[in-house]
Amino acid sequence: MSPPVKKKYSVIVCKEQQNYKFSRIIESRLFLCYLLPYIFFLGENMGSKIVVNNYGSFDVTMVKGKGSTVYDINGKKYIDFLAGIAVNSLGHNFKPLVKAISKQAKKQIHVCNYFVSDVGVAYATELLGYTGFDAVYFGNSGAEGNEAAIKLARKYGYLNGGEKRRVIYTLESSFHGRTLATLTATGQDKFHPACFAPYVDCFKTIKANDWEAIKTAFDDTTAALLIECVQGEGGVNIVDADWAKAAADAARKAGAIVMADEVQTGFGRTGTLLASEQLGFNPEVVSFAKGVAGGVPFGGILIRGKAADVFKAGDHQSTFGGNPLACAAGLVVLHELTKPGFLKSVSEKGEYMRKKIAEFGAKCVGEIRGKGLMIGVDMIEPVNAVEVEKKLLEKGLLTSTAGKNTLRIVPPLNISYKEIDEGLAILKDVLLGE
Ligand SMILES: Cc1ncc(COP(=O)(O)O)c(C=O)c1O
Repeated sequence: MSPPVKKKYSVIVCKEQQNYKFSRIIESRLFLCYLLPYIFFLGENMGSKIVVNNYGSFDVTMVKGKGSTVYDINGKKYIDFLAGIAVNSLGHNFKPLVKAISKQAKKQIHVCNYFVSDVGVAYATELLGYTGFDAVYFGNSGAEGNEAAIKLARKYGYLNGGEKRRVIYTLESSFHGRTLATLTATGQDKFHPACFAPYVDCFKTIKANDWEAIKTAFDDTTAALLIECVQGEGGVNIVDADWAKAAADAARKAGAIVMADEVQTGFGRTGTLLASEQLGFNPEVVSFAKGVAGGVPFGGILIRGKAADVFKAGDHQSTFGGNPLACAAGLVVLHELTKPGFLKSVSEKGEYMRKKIAEFGAKCVGEIRGKGLMIGVDMIEPVNAVEVEKKLLEKGLLTSTAGKNTLRIVPPLNISYKEIDEGLAILKDVLLGE
């Protein structure tokens, strides 16, 4: 258990006083960086005061974790049904991951894209081998992956229909990121406030699972259809496989390419490496990020077929793309996910959790949806998912919310049944109390 913040800092002060005169401490970086802000904020959650609070973060400072259990600065324990929003795919302090990152840090932390790194080539080779794609572009986040996909689609449209073929279709209720283009692509009006206008031209939406819509949507102005395979932020909404295949066929018939946003579903979260494998629509482009390097920032796109030769040197770049630490981490994640039985266990754990939650018989629970370890539990009004999330946090369970009123559960993919049961006990207690 970690000591409370005040004790921690007072220890540092004592050590410093032993070693330096007070005037030296005042000048020291330690004083400027740590003690000064601490004195101002008197040991409160300093983060919420000095980090731009774009996130509406809770007043909790996390310090460490092991497996699917994390601890805050006061030593309070939480079961992790959140995984840093589907990022810590192998939980916390996963030894092979820590070892690979440390080993790589000793060799080389950054290689600029004038060259390739040995670990980057190794990761790309294995990734393409496992997924069957032809090429990969490395970036750093989900929005960047989708930006790359959007640019690729625009160029594909230009090369195959001139200036007229520019439209990119996304799904209603989808989420694709926070840059201007990915915000525009996002199929939810609440993400398009007037203050950020003007948005990017030539994005349209269609409703997932709407068979009528796909009969007329696509034409010679369509460059691409982008499908978010399970709509995470939108409320863990499932896209029907038959519809996805029919929509992809219609888009291709009109001369467009088909892309999948697998930022939250990739890799392994839904019980297969890619969720689009289960939907069966064979996207030409797949964006990925979040969990692929177990917590090290990483993202990019997988490319194949008609989309493979679109990007040429200079079309799209990123200083940190293909960072060796991220590639070393990505290799460990890929190796774990592809071990016999691992992905099957993701599906089984997801089914187990959904069944158990249904068995609670809580009156406030509506539909329970999901694939693998991506689970949405609808709250029935007047019960509010955000209030439930707060109560769970107080009782030591990390979750999140999505869509209109859905509790979202996305634990580490290697969470143990013991931790699942511990977390479910807290969930049951809270839900039955609503
Ligand atoms: C499906 C999907 N696409 C894109 C993004 C944006 O990813 P990032 O926050 O890494 O830019 C997210 C993030 O939640 C996401 O869930």
